[in-house]
Amino acid sequence: MFCSWSVELKVFVLNYSKVSFLFRALGQLDSLPEKEQQEIQKALHLFSLGTSLPKTLQQAKNHTYRFWDTQPVTKLGDHVTTHGPVEEVDASIRSEPCLLPQGFSWDTLDLSSPFVLGELSHLLNENYMEEDDNTIRFNFSPEYLLWALQPPNWLLQWNLGVRVDANKKLVGFIAAVPADVRIYETKKRLVQVRFLCVHKKLRLKRMTPVLIRELTRRVNQQGVYQAVYAAGTVLPTPISSCSQWHRPLNPRKLMEVNYPGLKQNMNLQRALKFNRLPEVTKIKGLRPMTEADAPRILSLLEKNLSNFHLSPLLSLQEVEHWYLPKENVNDTYVVEADNGTLTDMVSFYTVSSRVLNHPVHTGLRAACLLYAVCNTTGVADLMEDTLVLAKSKGCDVFCALDVMDNMSFLEKLKFTISDKSVHYYLYNWKCPLMSPDKVLTTVMSPLAKRHFCLSGPVMIFHPFHFR
Ligand SMILES: CC(C)(COP(=O)(O)OP(=O)(O)OC[C@H]1O[C@@H](n2cnc3c(N)ncnc32)[C@H](O)[C@@H]1OP(=O)(O)O)[C@@H](O)C(=O)NCCC(=O)NCCS
Repeated sequence: MFCSWSVELKVFVLNYSKVSFLFRALGQLDSLPEKEQQEIQKALHLFSLGTSLPKTLQQAKNHTYRFWDTQPVTKLGDHVTTHGPVEEVDASIRSEPCLLPQGFSWDTLDLSSPFVLGELSHLLNENYMEEDDNTIRFNFSPEYLLWALQPPNWLLQWNLGVRVDANKKLVGFIAAVPADVRIYETKKRLVQVRFLCVHKKLRLKRMTPVLIRELTRRVNQQGVYQAVYAAGTVLPTPISSCSQWHRPLNPRKLMEVNYPGLKQNMNLQRALKFNRLPEVTKIKGLRPMTEADAPRILSLLEKNLSNFHLSPLLSLQEVEHWYLPKENVNDTYVVEADNGTLTDMVSFYTVSSRVLNHPVHTGLRAACLLYAVCNTTGVADLMEDTLVLAKSKGCDVFCALDVMDNMSFLEKLKFTISDKSVHYYLYNWKCPLMSPDKVLTTVMSPLAKRHFCLSGPVMIFHPFHFR
């Protein structure tokens, strides 16, 4: 009892002094010269008071990026008008892995082993979260992870884990998957970075820079020097930024579980009426995609590409991988005209979450829009039918980003904007900024990360910092 009280007291005293310092510093921060402001920012970072990364470009100006400032990325505030690598290729790529602190080891995760796949699901389901509200947690299924991490040409060594030597526990992960992308007029083979995750008990110890460095080394070893990634925080430097939008499909449940993305201020009866959808779809010729549709879907995509500055260049195998419907993972519908031509398509994937400590609800399903292309059907009509289909498949909410021309249907179909932004980044590539409507996200977008928890396995780690 005494022991736990004295620990509490120490924590409190420590926090109190940090907080009073913070208030004093912040009160006067704006009136100080630039250099002193930067010193204080650095101090806050070192004291771990700057734990939350900048969410806006304004906040980012006052943040010191100890790691990102050493990387080949565009500096915040640079006005870029040219196109090309930030840094020329360095042919001498280290053959040894980056150093980890004693007690930790790299592990290439072989996801063909159900046990290893289960370990990865466990790490992500317990730790892939950024804030705590103790109600809803992601529940990535093994099938979902394989779909996201094993597109054509995926490489084993790009599924990178960190384990604790003593008990072999998986405590960190980052992955890359290959992609061909068009950035303005340049076609590039690069990687998309996925599922960066550090165990909650190891946060703020600089494991992320080590994971990114080691993944970069492994990617460079294959002759690839660029990456595309997305994050909810502002890093140097977003090439485009967009917002997440939500459309309730099951407003009663969302209200009952206090769904964080729900911003409609209305009582249940009104919410049910406001969000009511037709029982059945309206569009003639709308049907699920089959394998035989893949070549025609590919040509639909190719025709649409020239409207965008950032777009994936998919192969037939990639179209099959990303779009062919897989139960509880993704769904794609096409519109077939009377003469057999495919005129339109829409695709979404499904993310499941667990609802904790609720007397009635145990799970929640969110559908996330991948891509809609319309030639003959109006996009709002196609999307309304998509909402009906997603609801019929048990989804509770539909999420979309305001990329591509999604703005043309979001408000009309009663999506509401959330306060979460998604920023897109390029590693080792500079190009002018682009508006979100010039970004084509035909494959997995970053997830809407709103679901968090406080509890978790109690683990004791050494007080080290990764370098
Ligand atoms: C994202 C996460 C790995 C960061 O870990 P952390 O313990 O807070 O940060 P670390 O001490 O390891 O490293 C800090 C460095 O990583 C950078 N960083 C943090 N989040 C990042 C991200 N999502 N992408 C790239 N870099 C990131 C920070 O900017 C900082 O570098 P800086 O000094 O240049 O600013 C961790 O919060 C996490 O696992 N979150 C849940 C999953 C998640 O949100 N993943 C990211 C998906 S976009």
